[in-house]
Amino acid sequence: TGLITLDEGFVNTGSTTSAITFLDGEKGILRYRGYPIEQLAANCDFAEVAYLLIYGELPTADQMHTFRDTLRQHTIVHEDIRRFFEGFPRDAHPMAMLSSVIATLSAFYPDSTSVKDPQQLHVSMMRLLAKTPTIASYCYKKSIGQPFMYPKNDLDYSQNFLRLMFGTPAEEYEIDPVEVEALNLLLIVHADHEQNCSTSTVRMVGSSDANLFASISAGIGALWGPLHGGANEACVAMLDRIRRDNGNVEKYVDMAKDKDNNFRLMGFGHRVYKNFDPRAKIIKAACDKLLAKMKINDPIFEIAQKLEEAALTDEYFVERKLYPNVDFYSGVVYRALGIPVPMFTVMFAIGRLPGWIAHWLEMRNCPTTRINRPRQVYTGATERDFVPIDQRK
Ligand code: CMC
Repeated sequence: TGLITLDEGFVNTGSTTSAITFLDGEKGILRYRGYPIEQLAANCDFAEVAYLLIYGELPTADQMHTFRDTLRQHTIVHEDIRRFFEGFPRDAHPMAMLSSVIATLSAFYPDSTSVKDPQQLHVSMMRLLAKTPTIASYCYKKSIGQPFMYPKNDLDYSQNFLRLMFGTPAEEYEIDPVEVEALNLLLIVHADHEQNCSTSTVRMVGSSDANLFASISAGIGALWGPLHGGANEACVAMLDRIRRDNGNVEKYVDMAKDKDNNFRLMGFGHRVYKNFDPRAKIIKAACDKLLAKMKINDPIFEIAQKLEEAALTDEYFVERKLYPNVDFYSGVVYRALGIPVPMFTVMFAIGRLPGWIAHWLEMRNCPTTRINRPRQVYTGATERDFVPIDQRK
């Protein structure tokens, strides 16, 4: 074991160099390809940010036009993939369906396994970006028993997704620009976050030359956990529980501090941000604006604000530098958009997709990439002799 340095949870171990996302946890800085997240959130739509993350530069008007056009060509999913949904139980968690169906894409597009062919890779990337919102909407439609919608290709990425989710074949779906703006913003702030758990998973799986769909499906599995992307679902469930408990935020702050209780404030704390999470700031401001514009009075938002205030003035949270993270307010916005709680982490997955793709591609294109294979410090039994079954005690 002499040569092995143990770093459980990879707190201090860099797994790669990367030119995609910069973050400074002490100063609360987050930049995609050098551009501050605040500027991108204020000026771009999600597809433009996806282009930036994947190709490294903001697109020219022509490049953006071609990119949007290519995405449009791939929005429909194979009819047999639609039929997959018939086999899932009605109450299946949408993340379970999403990860399975994304993995299934490599069965429908066997050319995706040629990971060394740049042309094929490009097609796989476009398929994935274009089809994921369609697949995500089917996860939701399945749960409510409504007919699946076909994409409408004169709409842009976020417009299309809202219609796929909330439209029905019975009537025209009216697109609300306020909702589109809010959705774009949420997707943008989730689009990348350097070597987080799911992105590291995507890179790790891809390092074995596994195909893009298989790698992303594994990343979706990692994102599902409540300590990662699943926190947005857990956070709203917690806020709702506090609301039903007469809004007693202090009680929950005390519970989170109690080391004999494994309750944590969901949406609080971050491995890297030790000052504030810039994404939480952007979402909170958007939340305020959106609820006012949509004339929604969501008691959960009030609870969230009260809880934030109570925690931020509490010694336990101050000492440990625990601040609201991206998942603290995102659920309030998703609720305002009419997105049901079990779909929250699916929304995170749609947002994180360009980041996963960009990292997978960076990993593939890096000449020094090797199969990821961490070591361990063995703590099991020392050598011992086999005992036949009738002599074992
Ligand atoms: N509530 C109460 N105490 C907490 C919390 C919390 N939310 N988060 C951390 N702590 C305490 C923890 O108990 C520990 O205390 P002590 O030093 O006394 O043992 C200290 O703060 C350090 O925590 P840690 O668990 O060692 O920190 P970590 O970097 O391993 O974990 C985290 C980071 C995000 C998993 C953790 O803060 C957490 O569980 N938060 C709640 C879940 C959550 O909101 N996750 C979303 C993260 S942001 C989006 C994403 O990545 O998907």
